[in-house]
Parts: sequence; C-alpha cells; structure tokens
Amino acid sequence: MQYFVTTSTAATERTDCVVIAIFEQGLLSPTASALNDSANGRVQAILDRGDITGKVGQTLLLQDIDGVTSPRILLVGCGKQEGIKETDFNTLITAIIKTLDSSAATEATLYLSELNVSARPAQWLVSQAIMTAESILYQYTATKSDPKLTESPIERLSFFADNNEPELKQATENGLAIAQGMRLAKDLGNLPGNVCTPSYLAQQAEDIGQQFSAVTTTILDEDEMESLGMGSLLSVSRGSRQPAKLITMNYQGGGDEKPVVLVGKGLTFDAGGISLKPAAGMDEMKYDMCGSASVFGTMIAIAELNLPINVIGVVPSSENMPDGDANKPGDIVTSMAGKTIEILNTDAEGRLILCDALTYSERFDPAVVIDIATLTGAIIVALGSKTTGLMANDQQLADDLLQAGQDSYDKAWQLPLWDEYQEQLDSNFADIANIGGKEAGSVTAACFLSRFTEKFTWAHLDIAGTAWKSGGKDKGATGRPVPMLVQYLMNRIADKS
Ligand code: BES
Ligand code: MN
Ligand code: ZN
Repeated sequence: MQYFVTTSTAATERTDCVVIAIFEQGLLSPTASALNDSANGRVQAILDRGDITGKVGQTLLLQDIDGVTSPRILLVGCGKQEGIKETDFNTLITAIIKTLDSSAATEATLYLSELNVSARPAQWLVSQAIMTAESILYQYTATKSDPKLTESPIERLSFFADNNEPELKQATENGLAIAQGMRLAKDLGNLPGNVCTPSYLAQQAEDIGQQFSAVTTTILDEDEMESLGMGSLLSVSRGSRQPAKLITMNYQGGGDEKPVVLVGKGLTFDAGGISLKPAAGMDEMKYDMCGSASVFGTMIAIAELNLPINVIGVVPSSENMPDGDANKPGDIVTSMAGKTIEILNTDAEGRLILCDALTYSERFDPAVVIDIATLTGAIIVALGSKTTGLMANDQQLADDLLQAGQDSYDKAWQLPLWDEYQEQLDSNFADIANIGGKEAGSVTAACFLSRFTEKFTWAHLDIAGTAWKSGGKDKGATGRPVPMLVQYLMNRIADKS
C-alpha cells in the first residue's frame, strides 16, 4: 500500500472514503463537526439515531452524503475525547482497515490527528497506523498454491496534516520502512524449515546486498569458521545435513563512526538435538531464526530510509538436529574465544552459536552490540508474549533500548544480569556449562552470553515470547522487534545531532 499526506478538509477531499472520529457519547470531533456543517447536519442526525456511540472500534459507513465530495464517510468510534491508550488506537485502526478492506473503496483519508493517544505526537499516530494497517493486511503466500487475495485491496491511505506536512510525510516514510522490515521478518519466520535453511538466509543476505548499494554482504562457510576457531557454533551444526553459515551485512551510512552491531540467532530449525524436544508444537521451532529475521528486517528498513549510521548485522545460522554426529550431553567444545564449554543440554544451542558470533563481532570495533534471540522458554514464563526480555552489561544501553521500546510501542522489560547468577554456570570439567539449572533460565542464558561480551557494550533481547504467535488461527511471526531496533537507531541519530 502507498501512504500520503493531504491538507484538504474532509468535506472537499477527493477519495473513496473519508474516515472521521466520533468520541464517546456521540461527541463530534472537530473534523466531524466541520463535515456535519458542510453536510447540513446529516452527520449529527445519523448520530442521534444511536447506531454509533463512539466506543473504541465501532464503525458506521455512510454513503453519498450531500455536501461532501467523497462518496463514503466512515465514522469510527475513538473513545474518550480527553484521551485513549495506545491499545485503543490500534483497535480503532484495525477496525478502520477491516471495514475498508471489506468495502469496494481502494483509497481513504484518515482525519485522526485530533486524537489524544497518551499524548503521543501526530507523527507517532501516523507511523503507528501504518504499521498496524500493514500488519492487518499481511498475508503469508509463499508456500500456498492458491493464495486467496482480497478482491479490491486498499491501495492508498492518506493522513490529514494541519500545518505539519513535512513531519507527517517523514512519519509515513518511517512507518512504511519499518512495516516493510517487519514484513520481511514475518515472511522469513513463517517459511518452513525445509525452505528457510542457513543457505537460504545467506542468499537472502546476498539479495539485500544487491538491492542496496550501502549494504555489503559476506558469507563465511564452515571451513572459514573452522579456521577462525568457532568450535562452539560448528558443534551445533555438526548434527545437521545443512551447512552452517555466518552471515555479515554491513550497512554504511555513517562515515567513519563506530558501528552498531546486531547479532541475530538464525537457528532455522531447533529440534533440540540429542536432548530432543517433545513432539507437540515442535513445528514452531522453525521460528528459532526470528532473531536473525529481525536483523534482516532492520537492515532493509534503515537502508530504505538511508539512515546516517553504521550498522552491521551478524547472523550465525544453523540447524539443531539429532544425529549420530550431533553434540551429546557431556561433550566439551572450544569456543572462538578459547573458553571451553560443557554441553549439558544440546537444546541450549542458541547460546552456543551466539557466543562465537559475539566474539567475531569484536573485530568490528563496535560502539554497541545487541543480540536478538529466541533464546529461552523461560522468558515466556516470566513475561508472556507481550514483552521482550532485556539484559545488558551497560545500564545506559539498557535504558536506551527500553526507551526505544516505549517510543515504538514494541516494548521490553529488563531482567537482572547480576554476578550472583554466574555460579550457576560452573562446570566440573570445562570453563563454563551451557545450562544453569532450573532457576532463572533466561538470566543464566544471558549470563552465558555475558562471558563472551566483556570487551564491548552489549545488550541481549530474548524474543522467545514476542517473535511469533503460537498455535491456532493466529499462528505466525510478528515482525518484532524490528520497530524497537529501528527506533533505537533513529534515536541514536537524533541524540547525536
Ligand atoms: N529455541 C529455544 C527456546 C524457545 C523455547 C523459544 C520455546 C521459544 C519457545 C532454545 O534453543 C531452547 O531450547 N532453550 C531451552 C534452554 C534449556 C535447555 C536450558 C529452553 O528454553 O527450554
Ligand atoms: Mn534449543
Ligand atoms: Zn533454539
């Protein structure tokens, strides 16, 4: 879909449908009131019949109102005039998009800048509306023989701008770029494990390098990783027929400043290895590459926006399968950093591939390193599926990411990464064990990673709960945390200037 900004009033706008806010108790928004005047009181008369009261998400589609240029008016309930919450805003945008989608309108203009959504600026409403719209209209089609596409899809959505046209125009571009990044992240996540292999992700990275001149892609194969001493990463891949890849995408938009390095877990299928996972729901372990998908999505969003910053995406990619040659519980491997690791559970493989990718990141002399990983089931117990887990060795970076999560409404919550937890990783036979026992599973996973990030400022995002929706009709990747990551980078740029 395409997004525009318009300065025409609701009564004179030429489009298939103008979308107008109604507040609770049938209160007319300023735009609705002006439109009502142009329409000789028709809008008020319809409201007086009580078919729409202004509750969040209610809709009423009017046709051919005299005095209004557009053939349709969509009245939408926007809750309390004094203000509503972000979730209410997403509810009403969802209602608008669904109503438009089931009508024959292919374009519409939204007059919603008069809403007070937790005092968010007008730009936020615009980019959030675009992300929500794109999410609703997202369809996975890659492996369907007959995709059921909408008959008259919405093609153009415009936003009314008062006297802030340039800002809102920028907001449409930001929103669309982030939405496109989320879409790529969803598509990659939703692909089955037999299609989306490490080699497929490598090809995807090559394509991004081709598509954007500011992005340079390099792929390391298993021999090259072997020479670098990545014994931990390679041990996970050994049980798989698919060769592991270490993917690097280098986006250069920020001159000679130090880069932000994003390290995404790209485990294209996690069967657990010899510590095999139970059968129920195991298909969802195709989503174990969603951290890498968010890195891909972030790369294309920032490249699309030409952001003035240097960002390097690093993706260690492998399968984790049971096999005669797979890691066995008790095996000890040597990481690129030289630390030996006792693999007490082969299903704690994410940290095994990430640790070598984190060590590898040192060579980029990073400003900060952020890893993004579907790392632990325990984070779902702690935070559910709404909130990403965050741990960091630097409070400023943690605060910046929490803020970016708030700003983009793609939220995280911080867990402690205190020294007291480190002893849970003690091993009798190696420098470190790969699991830390029953307690605080997400924290000990981060503690493991922290042993490989001592040389730089680092944060870890555990997205096991937020990267995809489980089970049922809703099953599918979410595209998170692309919004948080892009917002973090945009905030960094804003802080610089
Ligand atoms: N990819 C999983 C984490 C996961 C589990 C994500 C369920 C989403 C849903 C990871 O590789 C894993 O298996 N972690 C283990 C660690 C344990 C063995 C210490 C887990 O969380 O059970
Ligand atoms: Mn696992
Ligand atoms: Zn995993």
